[in-house]
Amino acid sequence: MGYVKALPAILVLLFLATASAQSPVSPPPAFNITTLLAGFPNFTVLNQLLSSTGVAEEINSRDSLTVLVTTDDVITAYQASNANNTNFNVSNVLLYHVLLQAFGLDDLKSLNAVNATSVTTLLQTTGTVAGNDGELNIYNQPSGIFFGPTVQGYSTNATFVDNITRVDYHISIIQIDQVLTPPPPAPIVLAPSNTRFEMELDKTQKRSSA
Ligand SMILES: *[C@@H]1O[C@H](CO)[C@@H](O)[C@H](O)[C@H]1NC(C)=O
Ligand SMILES: *[C@@H]1O[C@H](CO)[C@@H](O)[C@H](O)[C@H]1NC(C)=O
Ligand SMILES: *[C@@H]1O[C@H](CO)[C@@H](O)[C@H](O)[C@H]1NC(C)=O
Ligand SMILES: *[C@@H]1O[C@H](CO)[C@@H](O)[C@H](O)[C@H]1NC(C)=O
Ligand SMILES: *[C@@H]1O[C@H](CO)[C@@H](O)[C@H](O)[C@H]1NC(C)=O
Ligand SMILES: *[C@@H]1O[C@H](CO)[C@@H](O)[C@H](O)[C@H]1NC(C)=O
Ligand SMILES: *[C@@H]1O[C@H](CO)[C@@H](O)[C@H](O)[C@H]1NC(C)=O
Repeated sequence: MGYVKALPAILVLLFLATASAQSPVSPPPAFNITTLLAGFPNFTVLNQLLSSTGVAEEINSRDSLTVLVTTDDVITAYQASNANNTNFNVSNVLLYHVLLQAFGLDDLKSLNAVNATSVTTLLQTTGTVAGNDGELNIYNQPSGIFFGPTVQGYSTNATFVDNITRVDYHISIIQIDQVLTPPPPAPIVLAPSNTRFEMELDKTQKRSSA
């Protein structure tokens, strides 16, 4: 009897030993966003976009994230409405929807209910937006939980719809009702080789304004 009971444990140990012998260094990643979303047919378009833009790879290389997702119909309509928008950059839209902190529904509900909570997104890490425009605000209000821009004028607020799935402390996938429009890229900064020229210009401006 004891022998039979111990058998599964021995098999598990054997399996673990084999597995660790085969994977030399890094531990297996806690999640794969592509695989996670594949379980939800409503997010197929988003899942394809995440892969084709390389944002999925970026997500998989990190830990402790919240990905805000919208259903196929919502994201398809958003893309269509931006068809003629020359500033439209789907990578930036996706990066704006990845928060660098894992929020389960309980976490969202325990956020400050008076003031917004600002959270960094992957877009902020690209350094292409002005100041902290790549952050998002979370509003935890009695009427619902809202996600919106920290700078007014680019996007409306989106409303929390559902907590889709999560891998605790690693990644949380939260559905919102609409796509958030990221702020435009910051004006191009002059290359370092132009610094002297800028300083000259600065002196000239100071002189002429003095
Ligand atoms: C995640 O899953 C996708 C689809 O199975 C695969 O192509 C990709 O290589 C996986 N990424 C990682 C980091 O394992
Ligand atoms: C999501 O998909 C299910 C079936 O897979 C469907 O019943 C449901 O209405 C869909 N929800 C949305 C918001 O599209
Ligand atoms: C985009 O431009 C095409 C051609 O001018 C036009 O047919 C179409 O309706 C426009 N789409 C949008 C969403 O404005
Ligand atoms: C979109 O923005 C990213 C920076 O976030 C940039 O690397 C990429 O080239 C842009 N794509 C297009 C089509 O402009
Ligand atoms: C909300 O922000 C204001 C202004 O910064 C501050 O005085 C107040 O204490 C904050 N309230 C809470 C509950 O955090
Ligand atoms: C988002 O909602 C908050 C709280 O109601 C509000 O203060 C803020 O102005 C809204 N933002 C936008 C862009 O509508
Ligand atoms: C959604 O949040 C509720 C309340 O915290 C929790 O019981 C449930 O397990 C969560 N579901 C997912 C998929 O995270």
